[in-house]
Amino acid sequence: MVAGNWKMNTTVDEGVALARAVCAAVAATRRVDVAVLPPFTHLWAVRPVLEGTGVRLGAQDVFWKDSGAFTGEISPAMLAGWCDMTLVGHSERRHLFGERDDEVGKKFVASLAHGLQVILAVGETSEERDDGRTFDVVDRQLDAVFAELDGPPAVDAWVIAYEPVWAIGTGRTATPEQAQDVVAHIKQHVRARFLDGVPRVLYGGSVTPANAAALFAERDIDGALVGGVSLRAEEFGVIVGAAETAASARDTV
Ligand code: 13P
Repeated sequence: MVAGNWKMNTTVDEGVALARAVCAAVAATRRVDVAVLPPFTHLWAVRPVLEGTGVRLGAQDVFWKDSGAFTGEISPAMLAGWCDMTLVGHSERRHLFGERDDEVGKKFVASLAHGLQVILAVGETSEERDDGRTFDVVDRQLDAVFAELDGPPAVDAWVIAYEPVWAIGTGRTATPEQAQDVVAHIKQHVRARFLDGVPRVLYGGSVTPANAAALFAERDIDGALVGGVSLRAEEFGVIVGAAETAASARDTV
């Protein structure tokens, strides 16, 4: 899977044009799930652009209640049926907006309950990495979500994105080995809990056409969550192409 998190960028008109350009750039894709995550204001306008293209539509966040006095929030019930997925736990939500692990868990469960696929983002800060706490941090973030669940989610109902905070928007990508190391750990942690219910795990953090192929060549990295470059359709298309090549290579092993 390659998903483009547009963050708080583009006007509605620009977003519609970007979605069109993304669809054109990834038209040859067969094996890779492609998704765009525009701002909430754009979702309804972008939906028809994606019709028949196979490109999926996601929201960058969601609240956990269905309705009520929660000014400014968007509920999964509002997205269900026409939006394909949500992203929860992005590091910008956690660190800039003070979102707690248990809140991320509630958002996760609410998304699943409404039939929305959910991308769960986890990752450590540079300080946590320097202190040797990377695995502890991602385990804590995952366990807080698992604590909200009654049972294992269907394997295709969720995706994990490992996004080291120090690599997001900094141009400082994790090396393929660093990313593989943590992604393999995440899969092991999930396997210990859900046996064969291990979902795809993406890497995110300064993914570009120049480094994508090396990341996707790693055994456990199943795609990317792309920020900045997802605003440039052609380059985003090159990243999707690299994922397509990696998926073909895995099929022939
Ligand atoms: P960048 O690709 O801009 O580093 O952002 C990554 C990210 O946060 C995707 O969710």
